[in-house]
Amino acid sequence: MKKVFTDKLLTAIDIGTTKICVLVGHKSADGTVEVVGVGRVPSEGLKKGVVVDIAKAAYSIKQAVKEAEIMANTTIESAVIGISGGHIQSRNSYGAVPLEKGEVRQEDIAAVMAAARAVPLAEGQQILHVLPQFFSVDGQDRINDPLGMHGIRLEAQVHIITGSVSSVQNLVKCCELAGVKVQDVVLEQLASAQAVLSDDERELGVGVLDIGGGTSDLALYQRGAIRHTMVLPVAGNHFTNDLAIGLRTTINDAERVKRDYGLADLNLLKEDNELEIEMVQGGKTRMIHRSDLVAILEPRAQELLSIVHEEIIARNLESYLISGLVITGGGSLLEGIQDVAHAIFDLPIRLGKPHIQIGDPDLLNNPMYATGYGLLLHATKNQLSSDLYSHHDGGIGRLLIRMKSWVSDFF
Ligand SMILES: Nc1ncnc2c1ncn2[C@@H]1O[C@H](COP(=O)(O)OP(=O)(O)OP(=O)(O)O)[C@@H](O)[C@H]1O
Ligand SMILES: [Mg+2]
Repeated sequence: MKKVFTDKLLTAIDIGTTKICVLVGHKSADGTVEVVGVGRVPSEGLKKGVVVDIAKAAYSIKQAVKEAEIMANTTIESAVIGISGGHIQSRNSYGAVPLEKGEVRQEDIAAVMAAARAVPLAEGQQILHVLPQFFSVDGQDRINDPLGMHGIRLEAQVHIITGSVSSVQNLVKCCELAGVKVQDVVLEQLASAQAVLSDDERELGVGVLDIGGGTSDLALYQRGAIRHTMVLPVAGNHFTNDLAIGLRTTINDAERVKRDYGLADLNLLKEDNELEIEMVQGGKTRMIHRSDLVAILEPRAQELLSIVHEEIIARNLESYLISGLVITGGGSLLEGIQDVAHAIFDLPIRLGKPHIQIGDPDLLNNPMYATGYGLLLHATKNQLSSDLYSHHDGGIGRLLIRMKSWVSDFF
């Protein structure tokens, strides 16, 4: 049967440290999302997830947008974008309000959310998301939707994610310079989670770790709600840099050998073949053993996963990982990283690939595109169209208005 699609095309832009990925798609009547345009270019002007050169970043966004426009045969005017970086902070918070009418009305929910989000913020930080974890009425715990319930007191437990105002502004500015208005700014691991986790996993308890080029982004879920988020400014690029330094080779060749021959676990090395690599000085080459590569990558992978594990232990969050850990992002493609994660976490570990509906599935069903696809799912879920945030008309004030309506997102 031919699927019926909504006319409106929506766009997501994953502005990653290593690549920009633009996805254009629309929702079918059965709720699935079909991708009709893809733009992928290497990104410039970003470091550890944040913009460090606006002109360069804007230029690469523009290239990727153009590519997607040609494929989708459309003009992209606005998009949902992702955000990450070491400036992201998160915490849980709590609010309570009396129920004046003896039952929960929409305005009571708004009031309790406002009470929960009233937390002191560090200088230059701004709230990005306020995500409800659960409500309770008169102490009766864990209500997902309290509307209409009788009682005298409503409480809300929420997860608050903040980010630096200037980092958000820089991202928005880059998009505007590329001719795209920003509809929404979404924390990248929330998008990746949307793309690769099942409802059951989120209900039982699961972690998603998106190992990108510049940052590794963690999100933990249980009972369908977000429990914890963390951004670690260490990821695939650091592996490549360590290889370049350790093997005295170029960044490009370090990246090539990492992808083609890299292993995160020495136990998986069956044959210690020799590899030819470029030397950093003047185009000469030399031979190395594959085990030389593994000797550098293995401790790096162990270190990265240990930091994440220690964070989970230190904050007493192990009980959320009932279904295990899902690893995604380009860094998850390093062979053996799942084995290292399994040894450290002692939990089921799986690779998180998005299942993107497009003519050629091999094109995009790769962990690198989890964030982009999750952002597109978010866009189609919300079908945001008119409420745009513009850098020029209204500044951060308008962004705050948008943020208020994020309350129910990803819940
Ligand atoms: N086959 C592979 N083996 C090992 N690493 C890989 C492989 N393929 C890609 N990577 C690594 O994945 C990283 C890029 O992943 P991804 O595209 O998810 O990052 P990004 O979204 O651009 O960055 P970030 O999310 O950190 O801003 C690079 O460091 C790259 O070396
Ligand atoms: Mg990424």
